[in-house]
Amino acid sequence: MAIRNIRTEEDEILRKHSREVVKFDSRLHELLDDMAETMYAAPGVGLAAVQVGILKRVAVIDDGEGLIEVINGKVVETSGSKIDIEGCLSIPEVYGRVERPEKVVVNYQDRFGNAKAIEGEGLLAVALCHELDHFDGILFSDKAIEFLDLNSMEEGFDDQQI
Ligand code: NI
Repeated sequence: MAIRNIRTEEDEILRKHSREVVKFDSRLHELLDDMAETMYAAPGVGLAAVQVGILKRVAVIDDGEGLIEVINGKVVETSGSKIDIEGCLSIPEVYGRVERPEKVVVNYQDRFGNAKAIEGEGLLAVALCHELDHFDGILFSDKAIEFLDLNSMEEGFDDQQI
């Protein structure tokens, strides 16, 4: 396993569309292992492959409940809406308020290509939406309704990056 370099906002690759994964081979597994290590080292709640320069629809998420590997993920159901603070490992030190569904259901494949579905709410819903946006070159800053002034934030502000 290895920690990979996280691309930041000025890198145009973050604006590209990632491709569907069709081969669930050892190369994919190595990418997933490296992405998890990179996410935990950052530390972050989620990381998409494009953020380490690989245009594949692959993301890793850990909202505190364990590692989830999301390949070819698609939102198939949403309900409610909620405004939460978001940050992104590719946009260091920038946080903003983003409106997202309160609950989402995502269909995806695991590292072996098995079809799976996950229902997420709270941070997991935010992380799923945020990572799937990365697959299409969308950053949270495109959707933020307000950016935060970090100097005026209260102590204990949750500065997790997704
Ligand atoms: Ni991000």
